[in-house]
Amino acid sequence: MNGFGNIGRRLANTFSGDKEIQFIGVAKYSADEKTREALESKYDVYVPEHNLKQFSDNKYKVSGTVQEAVKQSDIIVDAAKEGEGFENKKRLYEPMKKAAIFQGGEERCGPRSVADMIHNSRVNYAEAVGKMYVIQGSCNVSGMGRIMQPLAEKFGDEIERYDVTIVRRWADLEDLKEVRDSIEWDREPHHQEDVKDFMPAANLFVEAYKVPSRMMHLHQMLIRFKIKAPTKDSVIEALSKEFGVAILNSAKGSADVRNKALMLGFQYGDTNMVHIHEEVLRVQDDILKILYTDDQTGMVIPENHLLLQSMVFGRSREQAIKKTDSLFQISRKKRILEEEFR
Ligand SMILES: NC(=O)c1ccc[n+]([C@@H]2O[C@H](COP(=O)([O-])OP(=O)(O)OC[C@H]3O[C@@H](n4cnc5c(N)ncnc54)[C@H](OP(=O)(O)O)[C@@H]3O)[C@@H](O)[C@H]2O)c1
Repeated sequence: MNGFGNIGRRLANTFSGDKEIQFIGVAKYSADEKTREALESKYDVYVPEHNLKQFSDNKYKVSGTVQEAVKQSDIIVDAAKEGEGFENKKRLYEPMKKAAIFQGGEERCGPRSVADMIHNSRVNYAEAVGKMYVIQGSCNVSGMGRIMQPLAEKFGDEIERYDVTIVRRWADLEDLKEVRDSIEWDREPHHQEDVKDFMPAANLFVEAYKVPSRMMHLHQMLIRFKIKAPTKDSVIEALSKEFGVAILNSAKGSADVRNKALMLGFQYGDTNMVHIHEEVLRVQDDILKILYTDDQTGMVIPENHLLLQSMVFGRSREQAIKKTDSLFQISRKKRILEEEFR
């Protein structure tokens, strides 16, 4: 696991708990308190060669260099801070001919592209079989695919376009950075092109705003139909049996869902899914509006686990979901949340 931040620590916990995988360890770059967490979790910790002294000065016992860890691995899950994955690929993975999964902060196109596909388990799981390099779509991108694909399958050509407004959380629960009182816009949200990478036929327009909250992302998806939008019941029917999609009816805001997950003792307070807020799902003439919250930190963890099963084991999606569900208990959490927010 190359990187041990908000995403890396969750991924390390998942992959080290999967008996099918021999987990080599985690790479740390700063000799800080998170190193203690990694050591206390019984992970072998690897660090850059030039930082070995910094870690030993701080009395952290490391197992070797990042280079040595990569050498021992068949596949690296790169959870580096945004953009560093590209350098890692050029410096480590490519020269050593090692496969890697990258996170959504890396580039899909242009000179710093790290892979030729973005994975979304609901859309293109099987295309990742045997690939050397794949990006796991970001939390927002994963959530959008999870809602759009079942609707595209059910309503197909009846859909004219999708307009999505993403309201992004400022920071994660465990982030120390200041949450500034401002609403920020995004010149060119990457989410639009990322989703179109795996759903090229979708006529999609995305805007994104960052707001001072730590409590999940919120997406307002407006779907315009060519003639008349379907009924609310048929939309709910299309989505209710989806893996990792919960239908809630009485939450008042994103914090209600996050706090419930914390109160229920879900690990890290993650639900690992998107939550459709049925009471505000509206249909008018040719427009369907779906509002859903997206667990920013939790969404991509089972997605990475599914992706690894495609890349390494070439397993069918059904079998992979079964395995991932047994580790994350997503179906059980969905039932509990749906009951709590009936
Ligand atoms: N946070 C989310 O909600 C979220 C959701 C979906 C996807 N993502 C994506 O996941 C990736 C990681 O995000 P994050 O939120 O986990 O970031 P983060 O909490 O800031 O953690 C980044 C980690 O990268 C490590 N690092 C620094 N240089 C590195 C290098 N050269 N190679 C590997 N790791 C390096 C840092 O190590 P040290 O601490 O040791 O310095 C730190 O642990 C990004 O691409 C992001 O876009 C994030």
